[in-house]
Amino acid sequence: MLSDLPKYELLSVAIRAAIEAGDHFRERVDSSKQVKMKTSFADVVTEVDSQCEAIIYKHIRATYPHHVLLGEEQVAPGSSASIEAINAVSEEEHLWIIDPLDGTTNFVQHMRLSVVSIAYAHKGKVMLGVIYDPYHDEVFLAYKGRGAYRTSSREAQIWCDLQIADHKEKSVVIEHTNSFLPWETLQVSKRQEIEKAILATGFPARGGIGSERTDAGLKIVAAAGNLRAIGSAALHLAWIAAGRVDGYWEYDLNAWDIAAGILIVQEAGGQAGAIGSGIDGLRVRDVLATGTATLSHMLNTLLLI
Ligand code: IPD
Ligand code: CA
Ligand code: CA
Repeated sequence: MLSDLPKYELLSVAIRAAIEAGDHFRERVDSSKQVKMKTSFADVVTEVDSQCEAIIYKHIRATYPHHVLLGEEQVAPGSSASIEAINAVSEEEHLWIIDPLDGTTNFVQHMRLSVVSIAYAHKGKVMLGVIYDPYHDEVFLAYKGRGAYRTSSREAQIWCDLQIADHKEKSVVIEHTNSFLPWETLQVSKRQEIEKAILATGFPARGGIGSERTDAGLKIVAAAGNLRAIGSAALHLAWIAAGRVDGYWEYDLNAWDIAAGILIVQEAGGQAGAIGSGIDGLRVRDVLATGTATLSHMLNTLLLI
């Protein structure tokens, strides 16, 4: 059974939380911060990550005090703690999966390439995903079965305010005839040929990656048009959904890095799920996302050799 919570309310909570958290870290990108190492020099966290998570929790708890929240900063570092954490809650009736600041290394390095990623799942199925890039003022959003969209934080806020006001007055919540939301519809790229494809990947922050994976990655780089690695899994997925990147793969990610992005890519018409199987549940850690099935097949073949 689908969640019977009003969509406008879920969307408004997620949007407002993402915007306040993203604006919070954007304003601090050039300030000095306490940087703590988690599992390696490439896996770091700052006090701003926790502040952003607290902002998001505040928003969700104000409307949904009984929902289960899985925020990255509540989980001990390392892959096994993350796997345990998601396994413990993945079938909850109402679950929010939160990465308050995806791209912390970029944030520490003053590189303006970090986002907020928030997903809401009902009994293990991701229903809603929001990714907010505060530096480029882009909100990427999808609702299961209702498409994927892009807008500015201002437009998104106005929409939330209108929805909440209309609901309070008990008038009909704004319905849009040709589109679920009145924003730009996201569409993945139609690229099929790997030799023309602009691909993206991420390099393992937590170690433990075998050389077979590195070799497969090198084969892909040699075959592809070009490669990017911008240091935010969620931003990579948002850009796949927007058709800016043709394909993306990365190993050993956590649900909070990719749950929202996988839904946004799928709702933008793309393929997103586990490398090899294509399965798209909350337990996916090795992710592949592409605009087309042909490119997905080609990349899977190269990754699985
Ligand atoms: C990281 C980013 C990065 C990916 C790492 C993630 P964080 O998340 O998504 O692109 O390569 O594996 O841990 O720590 O910046 O939230
Ligand atoms: Ca992350
Ligand atoms: Ca993070």
